[in-house]
Amino acid sequence: MKCRICRNRAQVHLRQHNLALCREHFVERFEREVLKTIRKYRMFTPEDPVLVAVSGGKDSLAVLYLLAKHGYNVRGFYIDLGIDGGIGYSSVSREKVEAFQEKFGIPVEIYPLKLRHDLAIPDLVHHRRQQVPCSMCGTVKRYLMNWKAVTGGFQVVVTGHNLDDEVATLFGNTLRWDVRYLARQGPYLPSNHPRMAAKAKPFAFMSEKEVALYAIFNGIDYIRDECPFAEGAKSILYKEILNTLEERSPGTKLRFYREFLAFREKVLSGLPAEEAPPLRSCTVCGMPTTLEVCAFCRLVGRKTPSEVSS
Ligand code: AMP
Ligand code: FES
Ligand code: ZN
Ligand code: ZN
Repeated sequence: MKCRICRNRAQVHLRQHNLALCREHFVERFEREVLKTIRKYRMFTPEDPVLVAVSGGKDSLAVLYLLAKHGYNVRGFYIDLGIDGGIGYSSVSREKVEAFQEKFGIPVEIYPLKLRHDLAIPDLVHHRRQQVPCSMCGTVKRYLMNWKAVTGGFQVVVTGHNLDDEVATLFGNTLRWDVRYLARQGPYLPSNHPRMAAKAKPFAFMSEKEVALYAIFNGIDYIRDECPFAEGAKSILYKEILNTLEERSPGTKLRFYREFLAFREKVLSGLPAEEAPPLRSCTVCGMPTTLEVCAFCRLVGRKTPSEVSS
């Protein structure tokens, strides 16, 4: 197979676009598409300080690399969650982040949860008597990303979510007809409060396979293992189902996502806004919450990030 642009030997075949490309033209196209998404959704400009949340996985390291390469004003932020799971999950992912920083000279701040709060993610299982800590971990990560952005002068938090992640979430929200989540799902979520940063997903239209190739072609080393707690998660099942559909009918994921966004724009945005409970300031940390004490302070409590960071 030959590259459609230069006729040299193709290295990649994108079935959803019926497009064969050599390595160089694949990378060129990938970056062009991502930059188009950033502009289309007015995510940020090259001058805006952008906080990129990195996990040590391919998606978030690749998005940080791409933004730095194209002159965006980026800083990485990694939360060491203290998860071992028999594979040293957090220490391996931290090593990948540190090696990335060293190799490409892109700054990443490390936030060691255990050191700062005397509590790692697995401890939450015992505290709350739950089987897996995933939802609590999500609360902790979202809070810290937003806290870092707001206190560090960043208007926006970038995450590495790719098309496969987005479509699996969409599938789950649709199965539950979760209209509140559906109305807010998309590549960009603007800020709705002075202490709430906007959220951007520049890879929302790029498949997991494309992101993996982009990372490999650019010499980015990343952790291959999934979080040990993710085993058996619904999102993994949804991804398998969607992969089967994509295999039978290439382009299904992209169509599903694009059509959803058009529907959201036309129909969901016209619905009367659901009564969202008003936001007030957490009495412990001052961050926005609907309750008296925010979810992070209730979970991790005692010391707020500002107290432990100073
Ligand atoms: P996940 O929820 O694990 O699929 O991760 C989704 C996105 O959240 C990743 O692409 C990262 O941008 C961000 N993220 C996940 N884990 C971490 C972490 N430990 N520290 C900072 N950001 C993270
Ligand atoms: Fe948080 Fe797995 S990454 S529980
Ligand atoms: Zn080519
Ligand atoms: Zn709080």
